[in-house]
Amino acid sequence: MQLLSSFLKHNKTDDDLVEVIEVLMIACKEVALQLREGALAGVLGTSTLTNVQGETQKKLDIVSNDIIKKVLLDNRLVRGVASEEEDEPVWGDRDGRFLVTFDPLDGSSNIDINVSVGTIFSIIEAPKPWAKQETEEFLQSGRKQIAAGYVLYGPSAVLALTTGKGVNMFTLAHTGDFILTEENVTIPKETSEFAINMSNRRFWEPAMQSYIDDLIAGAEGPREKNYNMRWVASMVAEVHRVLTRGGIFTYPWDNRDPSKPGKLRLMYEGNPMSLLIEQAGGGATTCYDDILDVQPEHIHQRVSVALGSIKEVETLKAYHREGKKN
Ligand code: AHG
Ligand code: MN
Ligand code: MN
Repeated sequence: MQLLSSFLKHNKTDDDLVEVIEVLMIACKEVALQLREGALAGVLGTSTLTNVQGETQKKLDIVSNDIIKKVLLDNRLVRGVASEEEDEPVWGDRDGRFLVTFDPLDGSSNIDINVSVGTIFSIIEAPKPWAKQETEEFLQSGRKQIAAGYVLYGPSAVLALTTGKGVNMFTLAHTGDFILTEENVTIPKETSEFAINMSNRRFWEPAMQSYIDDLIAGAEGPREKNYNMRWVASMVAEVHRVLTRGGIFTYPWDNRDPSKPGKLRLMYEGNPMSLLIEQAGGGATTCYDDILDVQPEHIHQRVSVALGSIKEVETLKAYHREGKKN
């Protein structure tokens, strides 16, 4: 039985990074407790507030954001944080080495129906000189991440973590410890399972429409095999399924609002999930380019996301290169 901290130390992870991951997990355990209590803690339902993206905040979006923000900013190593639920970065210790971006509660439309949600996080080095406290410090491409992961709050709470040396999973035990349960997670190269919000079909690019139409056509169609579909509406749950048994998950660009390249956010959804997927041998693309190579321009920038089993992701990219239409 291996605890998270001893696993990280055994793998020669930087001591400071171990400390930040550990404090982050203290916050995630508190979020897990709040979720477990649900209606008993009075945390279900919607607040009267909206975030910078115009979304109505759930009470638990705010509760979990406050828990994670406080724990991180109390740590001397954290120079600043950026969150889905904060308009601008929030600054901590001027000499802190690390910047952390996070989605405190992903899939929050699922809270009130008691379906899986999660916390997503990404850790980068603060650029020097450290005296400045400017948003630009956060705007580093996903390749610069030194650690990324999520905690899935499902039937069990599971941390999926990468520090750039593969992906490992840890399950939260009743003792409060995260214990290693999956080492060196590897995504199967091929799959017959896909995840997309089909109700947006009419808004997609023609290439995405024909790719999905061909999956649905099954054994009689050009892909010559039957596919199954899943949609949890929690990116954390979808990515966890992909890491566990393969698949392709996509939330592509659509023309509901052409100014927004997709629904998901690059800095605290696209990038950390893409690093996990690539570290597990999968692919992560905007449908054209690697997500990890996208140069961020805004903290809350959106990005088209397709990730999962490498051969399926390559096929999806080929449809887009060829601009396939029906
Ligand atoms: P969040 O709850 O952090 O705003 O993110 C929700 C995201 C993602 O988790 C999920 O894949 C997607 O939104 C679901 O979107 P639909 O409601 O369009 O299905
Ligand atoms: Mn989210
Ligand atoms: Mn969220």
